[in-house]
Amino acid sequence: MRIFKNLLITGGSGFIGANFIHYLFEKTDFSGNIINVDCLTYAGNPNNLTEIAEKHGNTRYFFFKENVQNYEAIEKIFTQFEIDCLIHFAAESHVDRSIFGPKDFIETNIVGTFNLLEIARKVWGSREDVLFHHISTDEVYGSLGETGFFYENTAYDPRSPYSSSKAASDHLVSAYFHTYKLPVTISNCSNNYGAYQFPEKLIPLMILNILEGKPLPIYGDGKYIRDWLFVDDHCSAIWETVKRGKTGETYNVGGENEWENIKLVNYLCERVAFFTEKDPNEVKKLITYVKDRPGHDRRYAINCDKIKNELNWRQSLDFETGLDETIKWYLNNKEWIENVRSGDYLKWIDKNYTER
Ligand code: NAD
Ligand code: TYD
Repeated sequence: MRIFKNLLITGGSGFIGANFIHYLFEKTDFSGNIINVDCLTYAGNPNNLTEIAEKHGNTRYFFFKENVQNYEAIEKIFTQFEIDCLIHFAAESHVDRSIFGPKDFIETNIVGTFNLLEIARKVWGSREDVLFHHISTDEVYGSLGETGFFYENTAYDPRSPYSSSKAASDHLVSAYFHTYKLPVTISNCSNNYGAYQFPEKLIPLMILNILEGKPLPIYGDGKYIRDWLFVDDHCSAIWETVKRGKTGETYNVGGENEWENIKLVNYLCERVAFFTEKDPNEVKKLITYVKDRPGHDRRYAINCDKIKNELNWRQSLDFETGLDETIKWYLNNKEWIENVRSGDYLKWIDKNYTER
């Protein structure tokens, strides 16, 4: 088992990165330091880590507002903190946004990853007691028909600027392992949901729109299928891979939990109505079919036997319980929502939907 002292987490102020930092401090026996490097785009939110900063700030938790493309700044942090493990979450992560403006996706997801690999290669040299763990997505595998699953050896076939940029970064990480012997691992996970998710993604967007009585936009016929995993279970998969994953290997992570979008949104209407004592049939009237997303992938489904068999990873929560927890989190965190709602980015989303 690998034991690390100083973890550099990129994108730690975003949805999964922040949950991962909470997970390390609150649910593991990790006793080292965490250095979070995040340039705080619209999706990065320091409020996701308020309690961590209060409790561990400048003792075991350190934050740097920095872009992963800044070679000098990150090399300095790498050296100053004697980083022995990098866990790379930072990315532009929203497919719709990648369709409207792909440039940031190329710069952060591809050039940013390349930059970090170069720093790791230079600072770590030929060390074997270090690790570069890259967080990726099942979207790199493309789109499935009605049957079948994505396996670790499924050929890459990305369709959106987002998934193409993630695919490129995965290939670079893999190339650094084969070419320079940089110790790397990669995890490709299905759709996550949970606390702190920015309300541009399906589940939090629908929860907030239901609470505000706004239309619930369903793209196309609504029969697109995603596999959903509770974010804490993704965090435990990442941590198991970091500790015990085989160097140079990819691990698929998924919820074995496929839902048609329209079925999921109907279910969310029922659960939010339940918690807020509304009439579910009235809430469902908010469902509005809108123009489809261009190049919309029909179905994602992950086979995660490898991480289950080799690392003994298991998800801990069933979807219905996880969704209830998530709805309750959004209901109990009005200040977080107000803060996020006041930013310009959600205005961009509202405008985008009006124009659809
Ligand atoms: P997110 O958009 O919520 O957070 C991304 C974070 O990265 C933000 O804090 C942002 O400020 C930061 N960031 C962006 N560009 C940066 C840059 N150039 N320099 C430094 N920081 C930068 O994303 P997320 O949903 O938390 O996803 C995290 C990772 O997990 C991504 O790599 C994504 O591709 C991957 N992933 C996400 C999902 C999902 O369902 N959300 C599923 C599988 C994999
Ligand atoms: P999303 O959360 O954007 O994740 P991804 O595209 O990375 O899978 O979308 C999940 C699914 O929900 C996807 O099929 C697109 C669809 N969707 C809608 O129908 N309406 C929406 O408003 C959003 C954001 C997504």
